[in-house]
Amino acid sequence: MPDWNSVYAEKSVENSTPADVILKNSHLLSCKGKALDYASGLAGNGIYLAKKGYEVKAWDLSEVAVEKINQYAKNNSLLLSADVYDLENESPKIQNQYDVVVVSYFLHRENLRYLYDVLKKGGLLFYQTFSGLQYKEQGPAREAFRLKKNELLNVFSDMQLLYYREDDENANGPESKQGQVFFVAKK
Ligand SMILES: C[S@@+](CC[C@H](N)C(=O)[O-])C[C@H]1O[C@@H](n2cnc3c(N)ncnc32)[C@H](O)[C@@H]1O
Repeated sequence: MPDWNSVYAEKSVENSTPADVILKNSHLLSCKGKALDYASGLAGNGIYLAKKGYEVKAWDLSEVAVEKINQYAKNNSLLLSADVYDLENESPKIQNQYDVVVVSYFLHRENLRYLYDVLKKGGLLFYQTFSGLQYKEQGPAREAFRLKKNELLNVFSDMQLLYYREDDENANGPESKQGQVFFVAKK
């Protein structure tokens, strides 16, 4: 596991980018309401959503990332604020709060249903992360940090599926994302 504070000390919020799962499905966004960037890093997703008109919260373990996001939001007058949480050990006790929740490149499977709980009825969950076995050293090697085949479909089977893609090791060509899952569903 990297030391995320050291990683983000070297990076700038200006260079953070939204995940493909949200860029390629942006037509599904109503662009109003509240959004959560969960395990946000430097909030590439959160900044994108704030610029689209959402009031955004970003949660991450890294104090450095949170500090940088809050400074960026202030300088750019964005409705975005970040808080430090160790999401493996403490989750705000809330339910039915968000119109959009986005997670990219983070997995703590014990909390997957928490993502459902914090969505409002009709809210959208966007998820993109690694799955299956590690491929060409991309993403984490540990099983705990990689989705299993169809895992999100099973965990969120009570949601309305809007988009799903799971590129396995046979995927190829410039558009392929071997070993990654893209998931969008409505509560
Ligand atoms: C691979 S980065 C992804 C960041 C961002 N979502 C993105 O797509 O750029 C994983 C993030 O998870 C955060 N993280 C790791 N463990 C965490 C925990 N227990 N609680 C909250 N955030 C955590 C790290 O600080 C890091 O920002």
